[in-house]
Amino acid sequence: MKIIITENTEAFDSEGALFFTRQVLKKPDTTFGIATGDTTYNIYALAARLHKELAVDYSHSKTCNLDEYVGVSAKDKWSCRFRIDEVLLEKINIKPENTYVPNGLCDPPERELSIFKEKIESFGGIDLLILGIGVNGHIGFNEPGTLFDSGFHIAPISAETRTAKAALFGGPEKVPKFGISMGIRDIMMAREILLVAKGRSKAEAIRSIVHGPMTTDVPASVVRVHPNLVILIDKDAASLLQKN
Ligand code: F6R
Repeated sequence: MKIIITENTEAFDSEGALFFTRQVLKKPDTTFGIATGDTTYNIYALAARLHKELAVDYSHSKTCNLDEYVGVSAKDKWSCRFRIDEVLLEKINIKPENTYVPNGLCDPPERELSIFKEKIESFGGIDLLILGIGVNGHIGFNEPGTLFDSGFHIAPISAETRTAKAALFGGPEKVPKFGISMGIRDIMMAREILLVAKGRSKAEAIRSIVHGPMTTDVPASVVRVHPNLVILIDKDAASLLQKN
């Protein structure tokens, strides 16, 4: 496990964007796994800027999002599809057919699960997964209590997470109660993980990853066994780490 701690949010965003960009320069046909959310937004925005300024080529790359809210359309501005298109995918030269976000309107939603699995397989698996983390240690929509060997599933979104996402949706009651998500097993199968977190509210979850114990009460605690894990955090998210 490698840990990068940045002084402030600006340095955090630019470290994240450089990490993302270096990956495609190193392996042009990279398949990226993509978390959306506030933490990653500026990282993608800066990566898109680097694409423009340095002519970074994404024409051989692929992206696959980690999750989507059940019941939302790609046109809803709070959907993972809308947000990733807006900040990254429409700004780089990636082929639309090389991008995938689970369809939140699939009816029944369970039908999307095999499509999700097959899409990742057809993309050759995930080379680099950009992974956010919830205040309660969730990854994707894998909330506390989710088994470490869970596969693609329809996941209940906890009241705590709905409160954390309330600003985006205009109130906790408007946040969908279910998500379509990669399971923890699928997350662990990524060849490399860049886990990102900023702010004091994430410090306890980060402490659990670095110092343990590994427990399904904090789903993210499992990533510490990943053989190729980089944790990018700002000083506030690092504030509960032991100094040695
Ligand atoms: C979103 C996702 C979630 C977020 C997490 C943190 O695609 O997978 O697990 O990464 O909820 O969200 P922010 O960054 O908004 O705090």
